[in-house]
Amino acid sequence: MADETVPLNRYLALPKVELHRHLEGSLRLSTMLDIARKHGVTVPVSMLNLSGLVQVQDKDPMTFSNFLDKFKTLRLFYRSPDVIHRVTREAVEDAAKDNVHYLELRFTPVALSRAEGFPLHDVMDWVITSAQDAAKTFGIKVGLIASVNRHESPELAEQVAWLAVDHQKRGLFGLDLAGNEAEFKSNPFHDIFKEAKQSGLHLTIHAGEWGPAENVRDAIENLGAERIGHGVRVLEDEAVVALAKERGVVFEVCPTSNFQSGVVTTMEEHPLPQMIAHGLKVTVNTDDPSVSRITLSNEFQIAHEKLNVPMDALKQSILLAAESSFLADAEKAELLQSLKKQMNLR
Ligand code: HPA
Ligand code: ZN
Repeated sequence: MADETVPLNRYLALPKVELHRHLEGSLRLSTMLDIARKHGVTVPVSMLNLSGLVQVQDKDPMTFSNFLDKFKTLRLFYRSPDVIHRVTREAVEDAAKDNVHYLELRFTPVALSRAEGFPLHDVMDWVITSAQDAAKTFGIKVGLIASVNRHESPELAEQVAWLAVDHQKRGLFGLDLAGNEAEFKSNPFHDIFKEAKQSGLHLTIHAGEWGPAENVRDAIENLGAERIGHGVRVLEDEAVVALAKERGVVFEVCPTSNFQSGVVTTMEEHPLPQMIAHGLKVTVNTDDPSVSRITLSNEFQIAHEKLNVPMDALKQSILLAAESSFLADAEKAELLQSLKKQMNLR
């Protein structure tokens, strides 16, 4: 609709930073169709229904299990090194087109390696190489985070963590715990994350999304999280809010993802403004732009127009995202300076 283009441009024009985006949730539908044709990927129902299998639909149940099911189908597509190169490159290109200046892209080596049994170290090498190449091509800065899932093997997670430690110099800055928080505790991963942190990796943990505020405490105290993926349910426990503030923990909030996975029942009741009002450090992110059929600009529009967060606060959240990125100090300072200049901030 013509009148939707005008307001969106204001959000597109903002130079943005994305701290929470999954590669596996960023595949273009057109690319998936292409891969399915070339590799004969058999999906359970007709190709016309592909969108319904890999993207949340208005008629879908807004539940975490429906949301996570999309990733099960998405795993069928990682059929060759070329596919992994292509989807990585396109994810970076799409972020650049949305005027994201720094993208911290997370990827799940176990997911990417499954369909064809690719070695984990090859998959990591392919993603890192393509992401850094694409960053140069499309004029965007990219950092990488390796993700492991709570509902999958801690032994594989340990392998991913050690490979990640070895790839730090190539821009793989962090480790993330994702997956089914509603049904799986983090205990089997405590030692892995502790050792990864001691080896220099930064940590971000999905917590307080599909599980209670107590999981945010667990992520901070037992896993050593510097940042929390989502964490919106932190507001259910004042003591955990106080802990997060005391430790300066940063929240990677993803409004549409929260609506689509049933964390909130309407967009308007999303707790982003209350989190800001409580003095928590909050950033705005997409989570899975393709699964959710959104861009980061869309999320800024929602934050301002549906959640009434003032533009000034959103600009500050962009600077906060740059400050709490996993970039080295010198690069972070450079990014901050360039963002301030473009937003006319000092
Ligand atoms: N939560 C947990 N795991 C995920 C998510 C999420 O929001 N998105 C992709 N994997
Ligand atoms: Zn996520």
